[in-house]
Amino acid sequence: MHKVRTTLTRRLAAILTALPLLAPTVGAAALAGASVVAAPTAAAAPDGQAVVPPMGFNNWNSTHCRADFNEAMVKGIADLFVSQGLKAAGYQYVNLDDCWALPNRDAAGNLVADPVRFPHGIKAVADYVHDKGLKFGIYTSAGTKTCDAAGFPGALGHERQDANLFASFGVDYLKYDNCNNQGVDARKRYTDMANALHATGRPIVFSLCDWGESKAWEWAAPIGHLWRTTGDISDNWFSMINIAHRNQPLAPYAGPGHWNDPDMLEVGNGGMTAAEYRTHFTLWSMMSAPLLIGTDLRTASAETFSILSNPDVIAVDQDPLGKQGTVVANNGGLVVMVKELANGDRAVSLTNETGGTATISTTTDALGIANRSPYRLKDLWTKVASTNTTGTISASVPSHATVVYRITPGPVPVPPAGTSHLSDIPWTGMLNGWGPVEKDRSNGERAAGDGRAPTINGTVYAKGLGAHAPGTLTYHLGARCTRLTVDVGVDDESTRTGSVTFRIYRDDIKVADSGVLTTSDPARALTADLTGGRTLTLAVTDGGNGIDYDHADWANPRLTCT
Ligand code: GLA
Repeated sequence: MHKVRTTLTRRLAAILTALPLLAPTVGAAALAGASVVAAPTAAAAPDGQAVVPPMGFNNWNSTHCRADFNEAMVKGIADLFVSQGLKAAGYQYVNLDDCWALPNRDAAGNLVADPVRFPHGIKAVADYVHDKGLKFGIYTSAGTKTCDAAGFPGALGHERQDANLFASFGVDYLKYDNCNNQGVDARKRYTDMANALHATGRPIVFSLCDWGESKAWEWAAPIGHLWRTTGDISDNWFSMINIAHRNQPLAPYAGPGHWNDPDMLEVGNGGMTAAEYRTHFTLWSMMSAPLLIGTDLRTASAETFSILSNPDVIAVDQDPLGKQGTVVANNGGLVVMVKELANGDRAVSLTNETGGTATISTTTDALGIANRSPYRLKDLWTKVASTNTTGTISASVPSHATVVYRITPGPVPVPPAGTSHLSDIPWTGMLNGWGPVEKDRSNGERAAGDGRAPTINGTVYAKGLGAHAPGTLTYHLGARCTRLTVDVGVDDESTRTGSVTFRIYRDDIKVADSGVLTTSDPARALTADLTGGRTLTLAVTDGGNGIDYDHADWANPRLTCT
């Protein structure tokens, strides 16, 4: 069969991106043959802070270093958080960015607040914010000076002294920038401040801001609560969407207490349309990003308030499962993301990055909720609710807009007691390298039902699942099953190049592995202990020579449940 390479490559990319969604650590790493244990996991927050992404305000995107960044502004924001219901909606931190200090430390080496901007000092502002039941944040740089060209003192070499000063102000959150770092190793600089904050004894959320330079997502979870993943956002569509693209693949690194930070919100600053700001706010929520308002709420429009306080979208961001959403498809700028939520719901966003209105569709298979009909859907911007019994979710989406649904799937089918053929049981998620997985047939690569009887090295099987690497099949076990036995191998119709590794996972644990099998190998019998498992995942990956003709048969799979 002749394959269209570009389509295949695109599909492969989509599958690899989507895999972490279906089985948290059965992701790209597992497909690449890496140890499952080594894959990043969403561990609990080590110190109980930032269990959900921080929400609040930071002045930078609104004021930069201008004079309108001052005590009146900060107090005004705190007032509006309460009076406009933003505090009730979850916004908590009122944070100062660069330019709050004077260019020089005092004789004792302490930072000094700019007396024009903050005539009563920083502690007075912190007290004001605290009196409203809110939290207070501050900024400095892991360098000799901060980032603004005016050059305010940074904390490099002053970590203990500055951390102590911040704690004495009552600071609850520190954004720690990266300018003028003198080439000192990022891990050292950020760890020194983390230790200094810890030594104060005051719980302080630690926000690393090195713009992704050191790939902090790979190392900073034990010392910080969030890390910038990109350079600075600007108030325009291209900046915002490019940052989203860079932050989206980092989903496996986020989790309670340790978040990817694609920078603060521009919503309301005037450089984007309302549809673009709704896309911005939706994507940040799908990505479990911190929601730090970056506009001057004292002059914000009703529309800005309504975007920033949409409770349904905020609930997606703040969902306690803390799983960053992933891209399941990107067809020329028509982007589908899915985010698994704590109660089993899925948030699904359909973003149109193109210049004209387009229909964007996805399937319940791609979302990991197949065979859970009927699904309840709520459009989180229009609030229109509906019920769907088909496997397709689809909407007409204007240019640069996003439609986002919260989907509540129907009850999970439980496998029957006794021993059943797995091919008679509905899967809950299916991703496949080429065409759909076939029941009781080999993989025909294209339409459903186009394979033949599964055949491995001359043995013909009546029952089986015909897959094509790379891919996964997931099943709900509900902790009721004990065992899967199966013969695996490359189907005889893969004449020359087929080579596949078959792996079986009980939840996140690998419980069987075939090693590499090629067209010349006989079927290998695998037995997997599923006792206590909630989810069964069957994964097929390329055996090392590319995914050409990787027709992967799970032959005669028998599931035993109680
Ligand atoms: C850097 C940061 C910004 C902001 C400015 C302040 O550019 O990335 O978020 O804090 O510094 O100077």
